[in-house]
Amino acid sequence: MTNAANPKDRVLIFDTTLRDGEQCPGATMTFEEKLEIADFLDAMGVDIIEAGFPIASDGDFEAVSEIARRIKRASVAGLARAISADIARAGEAVRHAVKPRIHTFVSTSPIHLAHQMRKTEDEVIEIITKTVAQARNLVEDVEWSAMDATRTPIDYLCRATEAAIKAGATTINLPDTVGYATPDEYREMFRAVRERVPNADKAIFSVHCHNDLGLAVANSLAGIAGGARQVECTINGIGERAGNAALEEVVMALRVRGDVLPYDTGIDSTLLMRASKAVSTACSFPVQYNKAIVGRNAFAHESGIHQDGMLKHQQTYEIMTPASVGVTKTSLVMGKHSGRAAFRSKLKEMGYDLGDNQLEDAFTRFKALADRKKHVYDEDIEALVDENIASAHDRVKLVSLTVIAGTRGPQRATLKLDVDGRVSTEEAEGNGPVDAVFNAIKAIVPHEAVLELYQVHAVTEGTDAQAEVSVRLSVEGGSSVTGRGADPDTLVSSAKAYLTALNKLIARGARVHPQAAAE
Ligand code: KIV
Ligand code: ZN
Repeated sequence: MTNAANPKDRVLIFDTTLRDGEQCPGATMTFEEKLEIADFLDAMGVDIIEAGFPIASDGDFEAVSEIARRIKRASVAGLARAISADIARAGEAVRHAVKPRIHTFVSTSPIHLAHQMRKTEDEVIEIITKTVAQARNLVEDVEWSAMDATRTPIDYLCRATEAAIKAGATTINLPDTVGYATPDEYREMFRAVRERVPNADKAIFSVHCHNDLGLAVANSLAGIAGGARQVECTINGIGERAGNAALEEVVMALRVRGDVLPYDTGIDSTLLMRASKAVSTACSFPVQYNKAIVGRNAFAHESGIHQDGMLKHQQTYEIMTPASVGVTKTSLVMGKHSGRAAFRSKLKEMGYDLGDNQLEDAFTRFKALADRKKHVYDEDIEALVDENIASAHDRVKLVSLTVIAGTRGPQRATLKLDVDGRVSTEEAEGNGPVDAVFNAIKAIVPHEAVLELYQVHAVTEGTDAQAEVSVRLSVEGGSSVTGRGADPDTLVSSAKAYLTALNKLIARGARVHPQAAAE
């Protein structure tokens, strides 16, 4: 499948999200969801869509039939056991497809023959011959699978494969049904079968790998190296037990490492992220955060060193662009590992232009926050910087606060404030912890302003979210000021908000007496 213009071999992508994928516990999709996914797979450039297992239920039959009717580009396959009724039902379901395929399978390993099928090798060869021929009478395109091929002795696997091709199979699939093979073994199995089966050149060989040992993608690539030219896979790697080889991983491995894997697929990789989201939503199956290609962390960088590198050159820590898989952009996740460069870049992105000192101050506060809080969101940074900008000229600054609260009152606050460079400490009681904090402030900085409003809301979600407190103070004559403060501790936010408002009053020349403490 090479040509002069493109020296790369074409590998067919056979998507079984709607069949093997749907077999995964809890991943059932509705009829409409299946149609939507099938449309998406077709638009993305999948070569063969395995739409379901028509004999399994009327619902499956309807879904395969409708997909067969509406898909105009890809082949549509229906699965069938090596049973006459299954094959007839699959043939019926794919009848209206532009390119119909029947995919029939039978076990070939000794363990399956002895315990599940209770048949001899010869009996199974007879079954293969009969059922493949029946399928071939219904459609031109017949795939035959040797279930549990990787635990089948090579001589018998060759014999079964030869019989299937002779009976009319156009694709031979040799699955690693139980996810047991290693890449070397899997590659060698394909080499051996293709070399030893006399009519092997009359069929396309296919890989189908399960992920029980986490080797599904590696094994699929190894199978290609052994001569397979069709890969059976699923979006997000969903499937029986630990799942199947993930389509997005296979496609991107072939694309990114085209230097050592010279194979093309027809997939438009920029649709991979959307496909992943569509499948995850349809089967209510979350995508692991660190999943390759489509996980939410796949293009997120938190470590300071990595963020610094990424800001200098994208290729320092990314081997493919986010755009190439349909992700809008790289994200620098702000957390305790983030460095100054990333923090500066984040602020710039958020529209802040801070001087060096302000930036340094904000960075110190950001680090302190990141140490206490798992996720630092943009809103947290915004609150932190706004507060920082406002406090640059403050005469009264919070140094520390300890509050004793609980059911056994009275609540008591011990507060340390820096007033014009001098630190004062006061203890005060109150009717509740917030009242105690405000009384302590009043004790250090006497004033006549009246608290008009006190409001708390969470800046972000979760129990470790920053609490943002708004305070409004009014003075004689009716003028008022507001102050905001944010911190994961509501009482600290309260003190900050109150002090911000107080500093505004001081700046306006109101009757506030910071000098009382400074004296
Ligand atoms: O894993 C497997 O062997 C299968 C077959 C039906 C192809 O899914
Ligand atoms: Zn399977």
